[in-house]
Amino acid sequence: MTMTKKVAVITGSHKGLGYAIARQLAQKEDIQVIVTSRNPQDGLNAQQRLANEGIQVDVHALDVTSVASVQELATWLQQTYGRVDILVNNAGVNPTMQPEEASLLTVDIETMLATFSTNVLAVARITKALIPLMSANGYGRIVNVSTEMASLSSMGSDYYPLAPSYRLSKVGLNGLTALFAKELQGSNILINAYSPGWMKTDMGGSDAPFTADEGAETAVYLATLPDGGAQGKFFGEMRKFGGAIALPW
Ligand SMILES: NC(=O)c1ccc[n+]([C@@H]2O[C@H](COP(=O)([O-])OP(=O)(O)OC[C@H]3O[C@@H](n4cnc5c(N)ncnc54)[C@H](OP(=O)(O)O)[C@@H]3O)[C@@H](O)[C@H]2O)c1
Repeated sequence: MTMTKKVAVITGSHKGLGYAIARQLAQKEDIQVIVTSRNPQDGLNAQQRLANEGIQVDVHALDVTSVASVQELATWLQQTYGRVDILVNNAGVNPTMQPEEASLLTVDIETMLATFSTNVLAVARITKALIPLMSANGYGRIVNVSTEMASLSSMGSDYYPLAPSYRLSKVGLNGLTALFAKELQGSNILINAYSPGWMKTDMGGSDAPFTADEGAETAVYLATLPDGGAQGKFFGEMRKFGGAIALPW
């Protein structure tokens, strides 16, 4: 079957920022959203919550760190819809609350490795797996969820805890974004990273100033860029900067 709507995959979208992005994209008439979650029941619960609001999404299981899970998703997307148009790499982990994350002198390298595995290598894996489906239709929008704390220009700032695993993983994600953009130059597949701001989610905690819905707005903007739009940039949260402003890497 070939679907006429654009198909949007959001990783880790049963809760938090991913759910908010899925919810906002699903309200657009021409987009079919696929909510993905590593625990299938979480995805079904999210689908039901959205259905209670009159918002229709499809669901599929996805653990971004699993080769088999990513391959199975790509095959299912091809067989079910015959296309993928939008990929939001939202799934992420953040071990910053662990005491070792206070400093690079105490950081546990295994934690760093696990953080890179989800926040960088898994993004490379799924992006690589889905780009061929985008290329087949000559269209793609890829959004990588990063953080201002990963900007190299912020490395001298007084962050405490230093959060080395999380911040360096997002530096890697930013680098991945720039390299993919180079490879995709001249295609109609646009890839960008953005910082959603500090949000009230399980990761951000209740003191955060922004809601996930507010943080989702820039992702939706980047996921629906017009042809010829931004390529390989790192955007700040539009609400904070008063528009789509590219940040220094
Ligand atoms: N909150 C903030 O203030 C903030 C600020 C800047 C950037 N961000 C970024 O925003 C993104 C979303 O964060 P959030 O605040 O919404 O955090 P969250 O509520 O903790 O959600 C994280 C999501 O990632 C999923 N995930 C983690 N590992 C996964 C895996 N291996 N496979 C599939 N899904 C996986 C989680 O699924 P499970 O429920 O199964 O664990 C969950 O759905 C992250 O990339 C984060 O780094 C957040």
